[in-house]
Amino acid sequence: MPTFSDRIDGLRPSPIRTILSVVDRPGMVSFAGGLPATTMLPDWSGSFAPDLLQYGPSEGEPALRRAVAERLRALGVDAPDDRVIILSGSQQGIDLVAKLLVDPGTVTAVEQPTYLAALQVFRFYGARFTDLADPTASLAYAVPTFANPTGACMSDAARAALADACRDSGTVLFEDDPYRELAYDAVDRAPIVARMHGASWVYQGSFSKTFAPGLRLGFMTASADLFDRLVILKQAVDLHSSRLSQQIVLDAVSDGDWTDRLERLADFYRARRDDFDSLLTRYLGDLADWRRPSGGLFFWLTLRDRIDTRTLLDDAVAAGVAFMPGEEFYADEPELGTMRLNFSHSDSADADRGLAILADLIAERIAARSR
Ligand SMILES: Cc1ncc(COP(=O)(O)O)c(C=O)c1O
Repeated sequence: MPTFSDRIDGLRPSPIRTILSVVDRPGMVSFAGGLPATTMLPDWSGSFAPDLLQYGPSEGEPALRRAVAERLRALGVDAPDDRVIILSGSQQGIDLVAKLLVDPGTVTAVEQPTYLAALQVFRFYGARFTDLADPTASLAYAVPTFANPTGACMSDAARAALADACRDSGTVLFEDDPYRELAYDAVDRAPIVARMHGASWVYQGSFSKTFAPGLRLGFMTASADLFDRLVILKQAVDLHSSRLSQQIVLDAVSDGDWTDRLERLADFYRARRDDFDSLLTRYLGDLADWRRPSGGLFFWLTLRDRIDTRTLLDDAVAAGVAFMPGEEFYADEPELGTMRLNFSHSDSADADRGLAILADLIAERIAARSR
């Protein structure tokens, strides 16, 4: 049994949500809830079904949940249709899991470095960080496929080892997988939770990288011992995710073109990755080391001369180029001299200009240090 956070003792399903789930039954007169009059909702009937402007189910639109569940089951994940929640971005999923499992002092295992905004959430709830190999952890958070910030992808053996370790120690595995569709080389990327039958796990993905981040939509599934509590926590946060966003995403994923879209996306970003890799070699080849990522959106650089890249940022921004100092992605002591560079957003001309500026700044800083 997972160890829930103390705040979960007071967790109750909202009676309002329970009542709202029956008010649209045919013939039902509802004095419950605060639903606006249907006739007074904006008339967008040409574009969307009018009921999408009313409140909806906390778990998400059934058709979208079904579409997500089918895809997850095809990857081997134990995700029945009714064990999927649509999230307001997968960032929300991190908050829900932290609320469910993290109290001040809860031992939380993370990769080093790892996703900055996950650290921020876990820290907010009082997590005490440790590394992924620690069997005393209650929760292990991992981005095994094209990680943010490193772009790394765990091998099949590492995936099997993490699944076994979590199962043996009773650690809840939280697999965060927003980048899996952005694969540019053939690598192992089967969800780890697919190996975790009978154990406690959470898996989430996002429509931000495959479709549009402004719609704020992600999805989550979890083992049966965790799922209902996650739904209640979701109810308490925002009742449900935007129904318009869900309809837009549902139309996109149901369109026969979705698979082609994912292929086009991967082809487009693969070309950007390769171009960026060449530019990195041209400008930073003598200053930094990196591995070309097999997917995702980032290059992770380690400078040969370990200057703290946080101290470079102001000058870089003043010169017209922004980057993420790698030091920010560490739970504890940061490794100095690291940086995360996104390659998906800039076209070739901008990438060329930006990397030339960055390389000059780094070279200047190193020269100033050795003077
Ligand atoms: C590892 C990881 N998880 C979650 C998110 C949040 O994504 P969203 O809330 O847009 O789904 C991101 C965004 O970059 C991410 O890199």
